[in-house]
Amino acid sequence: MALTSEQNEQLTRTGPGSLMGDLLRRYWIPALLAEELAERDGPPVRVRLLGEALIAFRDSEGRIGLLDEFCAHRRVSLWFGRNEQCGLRCAYHGWKYDVTGQCVDLPSEQGRGSVRERIRLKSYPCLERGGVIWAYLGPPELKPAPPEHEWALVSAPQRFLSKRVQECNYLQAMEGGIDSSHVSFLHSGALQRDPLFAGAKGNEYNLRDTAPSFEVEPFDGGLLIGARRNADQGRYYWRVTPWIMPFFTLVPPRGGHPLNGHGWVPIDDEHCWTWSISYHPRRALTQAEVEAMQAGSGIHVRYAPGSFVPLQNKANDYLMDRAAQKAGRSYSGVEGIGMQDASLQESMGPIIDRTLENLVATDKGIVMARRALLEAAAASRAGKTVPGLTPESQRVRSCAIELEKDVRFIEGARHGLFRALDTDPVSV
Ligand code: FES
Ligand SMILES: [Fe+2]
Repeated sequence: MALTSEQNEQLTRTGPGSLMGDLLRRYWIPALLAEELAERDGPPVRVRLLGEALIAFRDSEGRIGLLDEFCAHRRVSLWFGRNEQCGLRCAYHGWKYDVTGQCVDLPSEQGRGSVRERIRLKSYPCLERGGVIWAYLGPPELKPAPPEHEWALVSAPQRFLSKRVQECNYLQAMEGGIDSSHVSFLHSGALQRDPLFAGAKGNEYNLRDTAPSFEVEPFDGGLLIGARRNADQGRYYWRVTPWIMPFFTLVPPRGGHPLNGHGWVPIDDEHCWTWSISYHPRRALTQAEVEAMQAGSGIHVRYAPGSFVPLQNKANDYLMDRAAQKAGRSYSGVEGIGMQDASLQESMGPIIDRTLENLVATDKGIVMARRALLEAAAASRAGKTVPGLTPESQRVRSCAIELEKDVRFIEGARHGLFRALDTDPVSV
């Protein structure tokens, strides 16, 4: 059941021309928080995605440009550039580019020849939705419709977004989002105490039954991963995690708390952005919820000042507290759900050697997601359609539900998973 090293390479390499890189480039990809590029003619922002070094800017008209980071003249970083009068001007010799990458001014060639017209930097289309600037890095003729993940469609007060740098390959991070069996162990302390999780009946079931059974069902956008635990009155407690192609996971809800989800976006093969999304489909987040999220509760983290690097990170051993671990206040000694996950995923090394794994039944979701990615990548190469590209296939929600033992989750939880916008979550 372990992967071959060839499969491991295929799944984890995302640069231009790689098998998985080509697949990921078929989708709209979260590139920046909208607030990072709020101002017209504001500072340009470096963006590294799937191993490509890019520069983003918002021009005088409010349009977003996402270009090759390096000037076509002598490859200076345009991060030093001047964002002015509908273009980004290189700080070295003043060549200027518009949002399409076209060179619109080449001062040394003033009035001579057509060199300027031939100069064009690589550029990618962007769109803004749900507080995120999304980029499309794939072939222009295959560009899909704008994404319709539910969290991106709700109003701004219903949503809180954060992102953090994670020092490992996107796949092992995403696999953590699929594997909900670790919750009963790694996150056991947080379930009881974190203000964004505490108090739900489902938490009791999580802590009582530490050996969930997994059932996985495909749907148009990816996979629905059901984790089944024993509940009261001879019923089962199901937590259903949708995995939406190619790298989104939705965390099953707890009580009336906001829903959570993640995007696991490759920066390069040894780093990823972990996007953390909290939203409520029916109501604005409360001030207390937003403050808790800003303070690093729930799936969010505290940052090292002025960065998206977590305050607890590899260089400081995640501020591990051995006394808390010993006393049982925290299972791993690392504080906070987000960094509990990240610390262990980074500890695997930049890219896990998956030939060395020993997978068991609770890893079923992971096995099926890997297979789905490889199949989709092959389909994409063969010119066939791939899952998760259409807006309808992204319209799924996580749910937690108690069901009679003879009911399949795909039937019993369907109304919670495929639910109209602006309705309450189905949650325990
Ligand atoms: S290197 Fe950019 S203008 Fe010369
Ligand atoms: Fe986790």
